[in-house]
Amino acid sequence: MSNAAQSVAQEEIDLTGANQVIDKYQDMHGSLMPVLQGIQEHYGYIPEPTVHLVAERLNVYTSQIYGVLTFYAQFHLKPRGKYIVRVCMGTACHVKGATRIGDTLTEQLGIGHAETTEDLKFTAEYVACIGACGMAPVIMVNEATYGSMSVQKMVEVIDKYKAME
Ligand code: FES
Repeated sequence: MSNAAQSVAQEEIDLTGANQVIDKYQDMHGSLMPVLQGIQEHYGYIPEPTVHLVAERLNVYTSQIYGVLTFYAQFHLKPRGKYIVRVCMGTACHVKGATRIGDTLTEQLGIGHAETTEDLKFTAEYVACIGACGMAPVIMVNEATYGSMSVQKMVEVIDKYKAME
């Protein structure tokens, strides 16, 4: 998405959900984290206008909020795909060809690490060991784990999710 298109999209964010989350936690001590978590749960990421809203309503600096958002890997500042494809790049997976699996994902969807397809269907993430080394190379699509991946199997898994809503 271009910067111009992104800023238009951001202006159109409905802040009702964010306001409801803030209403819920506003009077709580240490409300910033639960508010940010609630906003991410609602929108799937933290839209920029919500950062300004939180700053105003909780009376904190935006720089303080961005400090929290960039410190914790759980927060995302850009929209993410419906399907998060995690390609394990840990040692066991690397030795068994994880790079080829990542390259196949790029060939199939045109996205690399931390990128999202324009239709917001897929986000690619290269991750460290996900604890299933016995099945290396391994990928996850949302909560589903797929082991013993090959280029062919990767194409099939991606095709399956492409065909889904
Ligand atoms: S290195 Fe990939 S699951 Fe452990």
